[in-house]
Amino acid sequence: MLTVDQLKDLKGKRVLVRVDFNVPLKDGTIRDDNRIVAALPTIKKLTSMGAKVVLMSHLGKIKHKEAPEVVEQQKKKNDMKVVVARLSELLGQPVTFCPDLTGKDFHYFVDTLENGGVLLCQNTRYEKGEEKNDPLLAKEWASAVDVFVMDAFGSAHRAHASTYGVPELLKAEGKPVACGYLVEKEIASLMRCVDVHPEDRPYVAILGGFKVSDKIKVIDSLLRKCDKILIGGAMAYTFAKAQGKNIGTSPVENDQLDYARKCLEEANGRIILPLDSVATNGFENWTEKIVTTDQNIPEGFEGMDIGPKTIELFKKEIGSAKMIFWNGPMGVFEQKDFQAGTIAICEAIRALHGKAFSVCGGGDSAAAVKEFGYKDDFSHVSTGGGASLEMIENDGHLPGVDILK
Ligand code: 3PG
Repeated sequence: MLTVDQLKDLKGKRVLVRVDFNVPLKDGTIRDDNRIVAALPTIKKLTSMGAKVVLMSHLGKIKHKEAPEVVEQQKKKNDMKVVVARLSELLGQPVTFCPDLTGKDFHYFVDTLENGGVLLCQNTRYEKGEEKNDPLLAKEWASAVDVFVMDAFGSAHRAHASTYGVPELLKAEGKPVACGYLVEKEIASLMRCVDVHPEDRPYVAILGGFKVSDKIKVIDSLLRKCDKILIGGAMAYTFAKAQGKNIGTSPVENDQLDYARKCLEEANGRIILPLDSVATNGFENWTEKIVTTDQNIPEGFEGMDIGPKTIELFKKEIGSAKMIFWNGPMGVFEQKDFQAGTIAICEAIRALHGKAFSVCGGGDSAAAVKEFGYKDDFSHVSTGGGASLEMIENDGHLPGVDILK
């Protein structure tokens, strides 16, 4: 796979860089610019080489099957223009916005970009054909450029026109396709969690979040790779119920109980479940908070976070690890009362003082790590939630990366 550093003679060349600017928005402003910051090294390298840098990304969801007025609303909400000012500020140079994704105007914007200039195109999902990897759309985008660089790690699990169709066509034409610095770094870190070296053992995975069903493939894959899997978050209650515990009104996936039992049997003691929970009589407007004495949660109460005994147990396991992969918070960390479990995981990783290789696999856990100020304590915090999980599940394969090879 070519890397940005191996691309030569880019002066005046039109380079399409697929970035992941799918940033969280609140009231029309960017809430977290992490993904923009993460793409800067690649963009700067290309502009310094005199390339005409054409950036494409999706933003949010646009459901083209909905009524036209709903699609219009979704487009308005996810207009890529919101990124221009912040990107320009971070790059320290003007960024031109291209409102068109096809047709004469789109090609005019690309062709008239000056060497070293940056053009940010409208949200790729404005086009119906993007998510379907429509060959005509991919052809139009591929025809507009000379080189393709993939730096959208967060979207590399999507085989869409801008992540897959375009590099596929350019490759067939003998044009260079390469990975950007961010994708290079993400792959290097996550591959270490896939192809495990003996010196990285004990390898401990920490999984949390809501649903067991979302994590089945990753649990199966981690069971083949890890020495221990610590399970917290809402998904732990399905495992607890599978073991015959009382879980009160905690969320549960009854259709996953057999899977959970099978997992526990196969794991043969390597899956570590919570010993206790912090629980409340309701999710939002609760009036009573308790700490359970064991895995059982009384009727009328709902588990909201791992409890103090679990924290001690998980800290001990993390403390003896040489490598850690973490995905999913331990509790409802958006509410102050239930942050302790997630913060304790961050503290345990900080306490390793870099003596273990630690990866936070994107999504909510990455948001928590950043919010609580532990980002620098991790060896790597991924910019891709779904992508990092799929990378582990599929033993290092992602369509948007494989197509570059
Ligand atoms: C993400 O935020 O995980 C990526 O940008 C992918 O977004 P998607 O799930 O809407 O494809």
